[in-house]
Amino acid sequence: MNSSIPSAIRGAALTFTGDPFTAPSKSVMHYERDAILVIEGGLITACGNAATIKPTLPDDIEITTYPDSLILPGFIDCHVHYPQTQIIGAGGEALIDWLEKYTFVAEQEFSDREHASESAEIFCDELIRNGTTTASVFCTVHEHSADAMFESAQSRHMRIIAGKVLMDRNAPDALQDTAQSSYDASKRLIEKWHNNDRLLYAITPRFAASSTPEQLELAGALWNENKGTYVQSHISETQQEIDWVQELYPDRNGYLDVYDHFGLTGPRSIYGHGIHLTHDEWHQFHETGTAIAHCPTSNQFLGSGLFDIGKARRPNRPVSVGLATDLGAGTSFSMLQTMGTGYQVARLAGADLTATQALYLATAGAAKALYLDDKIGTLEPGTEADLAIIDLKSTPVIDYRMQSAKTIEEQLFVLMTMGDDRAIQATYIAGGLAYQRD
Ligand code: GUN
Ligand code: ZN
Repeated sequence: MNSSIPSAIRGAALTFTGDPFTAPSKSVMHYERDAILVIEGGLITACGNAATIKPTLPDDIEITTYPDSLILPGFIDCHVHYPQTQIIGAGGEALIDWLEKYTFVAEQEFSDREHASESAEIFCDELIRNGTTTASVFCTVHEHSADAMFESAQSRHMRIIAGKVLMDRNAPDALQDTAQSSYDASKRLIEKWHNNDRLLYAITPRFAASSTPEQLELAGALWNENKGTYVQSHISETQQEIDWVQELYPDRNGYLDVYDHFGLTGPRSIYGHGIHLTHDEWHQFHETGTAIAHCPTSNQFLGSGLFDIGKARRPNRPVSVGLATDLGAGTSFSMLQTMGTGYQVARLAGADLTATQALYLATAGAAKALYLDDKIGTLEPGTEADLAIIDLKSTPVIDYRMQSAKTIEEQLFVLMTMGDDRAIQATYIAGGLAYQRD
């Protein structure tokens, strides 16, 4: 791990050099059928055609070869709730009832620090088993729930964004903080964890309906006082929620205006869902550089609606979008499955989404949405060596289907449609092997 002795891996490799929503995929995707990727000190130091790279390497360098595989940048999950791991598949309700019936019950258990630590451990292991190397994580209202998350991520050398949830109304008493206590606790956590190794802090008001104006005001002030930190929250997931927020904030001109008013939009702010945004809100997302985390399995599970990726990425005002699981409303840790559901949602919404574009949303596009594209999301030399090694023959039927896939684009489509955790052959974090399938 983080060794200064160079090592290398060899196999087919794919990375993005640009945005497949604004240019033909061939011009922004670099696919190398036989690549060598060199790792040193936790970073990628070279990546390219094996015949070109091999002669430049020391004779004694260790090269791990992955035949029938595809080397990808590690997946990035832009919005996920680790305390909800234990309620995945708790169903039958729409958002607000689901929160009350299952989520707020499960999150109260996090008053127990040991329970938080155990959940964080299971959660991080499961991310890695699915080839996910970075996530933007919601904790609970309890300050120690964020400590638990950061400790688990740090022990695995992961680049994780996380934050304690802020909630001072419309939640059970046991899950409420106050405007001042949420400011104070978040400040302590920023001082302790932000930029500590690879960890980053996100100020995390759950959503406008569970914060008073005073709490959002202090959240905006805290963000302004701590440059480089993040803001994460939810927006426009269901119409019922939108109507409720309008009632709670009658002076504001819509849902996004609430966050904007309190200084919670701009680079390094990312909002889950954004299914039911208005014309003006789409423009405002674009103009402010605010990002959306698209959570297709969650939206299907709760019946929240169909996110229109075509509208989001409209070339005249593209909004930054990253893909996300949103567990436990989301149903899978697998970003391959999330891409597959994203494709199906796009079909139902009347939009197009190629497998190449879906992969971009789970790697380089997600890194861009999080303003981390100089560090993660590609195989570019100088970036951090977080990798997912994908087995192209992970099940008998995928093996059979792949035999008639003629292009890398077609292979990606098969992976997106049929792939899951079984397709993750290995995961590297900061250059170290973090997971190897049996
Ligand atoms: N809106 C506010 N909180 C939540 C949550 O935990 N999950 C989802 N899907 N939406 C939310
Ligand atoms: Zn969420």
